[in-house]
Amino acid sequence: MSKPGGNSNGTGPNLRSRAWFDNPENPDMTALYLERYMNYGLSREELQSGKPIIGIAQTGSDLSPCNRHHVILAERVREGIREAGGIALEFPVHPIQETGKRPTAGLDRNLAYLGLVEVLYGYPLDGVVLTIGCDKTTPAMLMGAATVNIPAIALSVGPMLNGYHRGERTGSGTIVWKAREMMAAGEIGYEEFIELVASSAPSVGYCNTMGTATTMNSLAEALGMQLPGSAAIPAPHRDRAEMAYRTGKRIVEMALEDLKPSDIMTKDNFINAIVVNSAIGGSTNAPIHINAIARHIGVELEIDEWQEHGHHVPLLVNLQPAGEYLGEDYFRAGGVPAVVNELMAQGLIRENAPTVNGKTMGENCRNTPILDDNVIKRFDNPMKKDAGFVVLRGNLFDNAIMKTSVISPEFKERYLSNPDDPNAFEGKAVVFDGPEDYHERIDDPALEIDEHTLLFMRGAGPIGYPGAAEVVNMRPPAYLIKKGVHALACIGDGRQSGTSGSPSILNASPEAAANGGLAILKSGDRVRIDLNRGDANILISEDEIAERYQALLADGGYKYPDHQTPWQEIQRNYVDQLGNGAVLKPAVNYQRIAQSKGVPRDNH
Ligand code: FES
Ligand code: MG
Repeated sequence: MSKPGGNSNGTGPNLRSRAWFDNPENPDMTALYLERYMNYGLSREELQSGKPIIGIAQTGSDLSPCNRHHVILAERVREGIREAGGIALEFPVHPIQETGKRPTAGLDRNLAYLGLVEVLYGYPLDGVVLTIGCDKTTPAMLMGAATVNIPAIALSVGPMLNGYHRGERTGSGTIVWKAREMMAAGEIGYEEFIELVASSAPSVGYCNTMGTATTMNSLAEALGMQLPGSAAIPAPHRDRAEMAYRTGKRIVEMALEDLKPSDIMTKDNFINAIVVNSAIGGSTNAPIHINAIARHIGVELEIDEWQEHGHHVPLLVNLQPAGEYLGEDYFRAGGVPAVVNELMAQGLIRENAPTVNGKTMGENCRNTPILDDNVIKRFDNPMKKDAGFVVLRGNLFDNAIMKTSVISPEFKERYLSNPDDPNAFEGKAVVFDGPEDYHERIDDPALEIDEHTLLFMRGAGPIGYPGAAEVVNMRPPAYLIKKGVHALACIGDGRQSGTSGSPSILNASPEAAANGGLAILKSGDRVRIDLNRGDANILISEDEIAERYQALLADGGYKYPDHQTPWQEIQRNYVDQLGNGAVLKPAVNYQRIAQSKGVPRDNH
């Protein structure tokens, strides 16, 4: 196996790209590697200068509108790279678009991850700018950088400008759930429905609500992987392009310093991410993605740590769906540094956590004030106390999470009002096998759904769907919405959109398709959820449970649809459950491969 060569004049740093472009041990291969990268005008002098070669992992394209503005921003990234003495090589990443990809973008996160690993490892790159934005693009890029472990920095594309409709803020996704309810209740027609939904997307950028995109971009900053203040800048702002330039400059320095993801993403950084996630009201997708990144960088992180480190943290950020504001407001109020500073004053942040600019989280965020305390609340006047997730387990699943910060007073009154048992509820289960089943039957009066019913969605996990779709949040039947019931308890083995404000129990692992407890649940069963004890159980006897499992397995297990593509089959064979980050199980055996495996062998 060849090793990275030194610069032939002996003055350059020991960069891995030298093994391609300037390898004294194998000069004839050097010629082969050089000639093709010269064919569009790069000079031999540049490629052999000993300057760091920096990849720009481009996630934007016409198929990925949320990230498309990165195509423009990459010009400023290049200028920063060039100015700092590096050479930029931009390359495409498999598109992952949350609202366009069927059956779910969740299927593609691991595919983009695999692709990125091959590119970062197999090409002459000394560092990489990870362009992030739409939900799964952020984890896919961070997971890939973690596995390869070459110097890497993330750059958010930034949220869209605020949406408005008749003077009211309309937020991405959140308005869709609301508009669907309004249409189901007959309050608006189809034309106004479309108009209302489209008003939430007024510019380039990603979802302007605190959905999975704003969550994951904020957490990329909380993890230390973006320059401070980068996450919240709206996509069209001039500051965004300036941040692109500064990010390009910084990655060159990082390549020269050999500052790698494993130097930055320490256990402290992951705990900070959990704490910040609670304070911003982050998406229920965050544990899946953050746990996946942790597994690829080799940091131990259990699902229970989300409750341990996160549950007691208050909700500070007043963004939809939990609150009222949107991305522009979050930026003007101070973004992630202001949130971190407020949490730091309470001792909730691991201040020594390293970040990409070479300073600690504490150094970066200390004294960054909240500029509008309607949007980012003070710690002593939060939106909600104890805003983190609760982790539940029982005979229904080994683990699932619930975002308790979105429990409305009305929901609490309806489900959690027994004074002898204040944080528990019990009800009749109505079970759906996939969203098609739900759409077909939800308004059927024969199901006898009432305001205390628990709706279940199964077959929606990483294997079952496949890819784990955001289909667990289900609206109540129209007859209940008309009576003013806007949310029923929803439980499932799939995910929920981060833009949805439903108090659902999500990410149930193992899923029905892995013959988890949901697979033996029947409509009509009584189910009890206890948020204090963290229990979720079907109220049937042990014998009954054993009998049902026996029958299930005798029947070949829980049924799910056939594979439609090769990747669906491959992913189903190797994917882990949501509680474990839904990573590809064999992939976590590959850790820090730029160091542990050296440079790949020559190709000719
Ligand atoms: Fe892409 Fe929300 S759909 S960011
Ligand atoms: Mg979504």
